[in-house]
Amino acid sequence: MPRTIRFVPALLMALTLTACGAGVHGTPGGSGVRDPYFPKMGNSGYDVTHYDLTLAYDPARRHLTGTAVITAIATKDLSAFDLDLKGMDVAGVTVGGRGARWSRNGQELTVRPPSDLRRGETFRTMVRYGGTPETITDPDDSKEGWLPTADGALALGEPTGSMAWFPGNHHPSDKASYDISVTVPEGLQALSNGELTRETTEHHRSTYVWHTAQPMASYVAMLAIGHYTVRRTRPADGPPLYVAVEPAQDKAAADVLGRIPEIVKWETSLFGPYPFSSTGAVVADQGDAGYALETQSRPVFPGAPGLQTVVHELAHEWYGDSVTPKSWADMWLNEGFATYTEWLWQEDHGGDTAQDIFDSLYKGDYYDDPAADKAIWAYPPARPSGAAHISDSPVYERGAMVLHKIRQTVGDKAFFRILRGWAAAHRYGNANTADFTAFVEKQAPGKDFAPIWRDWLYGEGKPGHE
Ligand code: TRP
Ligand code: ZN
Repeated sequence: MPRTIRFVPALLMALTLTACGAGVHGTPGGSGVRDPYFPKMGNSGYDVTHYDLTLAYDPARRHLTGTAVITAIATKDLSAFDLDLKGMDVAGVTVGGRGARWSRNGQELTVRPPSDLRRGETFRTMVRYGGTPETITDPDDSKEGWLPTADGALALGEPTGSMAWFPGNHHPSDKASYDISVTVPEGLQALSNGELTRETTEHHRSTYVWHTAQPMASYVAMLAIGHYTVRRTRPADGPPLYVAVEPAQDKAAADVLGRIPEIVKWETSLFGPYPFSSTGAVVADQGDAGYALETQSRPVFPGAPGLQTVVHELAHEWYGDSVTPKSWADMWLNEGFATYTEWLWQEDHGGDTAQDIFDSLYKGDYYDDPAADKAIWAYPPARPSGAAHISDSPVYERGAMVLHKIRQTVGDKAFFRILRGWAAAHRYGNANTADFTAFVEKQAPGKDFAPIWRDWLYGEGKPGHE
């Protein structure tokens, strides 16, 4: 970045600060963004541009201390605004460097700045907090948020876990850049998203500073504290790699982790340029988490993953992390795409074709379990039947079947143009199902997609043969 540009935001801020004050009569921001599945997640009235988190963790006491500096733009005149924070004790809040009043009600931390904020104004909120972060149980009973491990902790956030370890606008629609600094007892590593910009040890404590320049949704922000074996490599024809493995998993994970550059290269050839400035993986211990997660630039796996799982999580870097759903209703745009990528991998590597897999799912002999074969038809991909079901097979497998129906309709050439074009059109942004169907229609004029949308995307039950 050219040097002079760095001064512009500060100058603009000073100008807006002097311009506001007495004349502004704001109203409170909202305590949610009307997400159809998680109505309390996120907050309205502002848009976060950057999180600067300074954290320290003591695994022995399970104690986290944090300072979050949140830079945001007011999207209306504001007298107050909410942040999401579940558990933890708040020690103090400032806005623009001045003490602010605050109160808590469930996951809502309501902040009253000393003077109202003007629409368009950039403001900086600092929250100091500490305590033992909570493990959150999802509506589907999986565990996320803060997950203590044998020697450290794992922080995972899909869909609501990130409010356990930092205050923020915890909804996928508000993406921001991040600086995350983590101090841990010497000998432990602290891993997060993006690039490691600094690593220091002083007085028996080590500090790791991670930088994420590209916009990131908070549910794919990650922290892994433990005794990891770390390997950094710079392939000639791909993004730099940062791979961390729990030593107990090192042997079992070695082969598949060695294939990450090949997987990223293959996905790049299909989806277009890799969206982030680094990649890699974190392999924690089996049982440290209940699911793998496509944490931005560096997915997390509980135990040595299979090849398909790595192919799946890395596909999310394009579909999920770079192109992020506008709401939790749009999950199939993540999971349908990542699942279809697994099918494409098999097809390209001498396994079943996507058509074979589609046929088997349709016939109902894909799983060994008839109940699982039936479950695909429980609800349509674009209308999950509740918050407990946003990660069920209708979102994954039937979502992938929607993509296959599009491929059947337009042919391979147009289909791969659509996959790549979709990643480019919403790179670093947010999109929903209506954006997707409109995009597909524009890419293939003259084709009739209405039956696919009606029967496969939005229709209840198993679509019939055409
Ligand atoms: N996104 C993860 C994956 O497919 C799975 C997952 C974990 C998930 N938590 C979720 C999906 C919550 C939907 C909702 O790799
Ligand atoms: Zn997935």
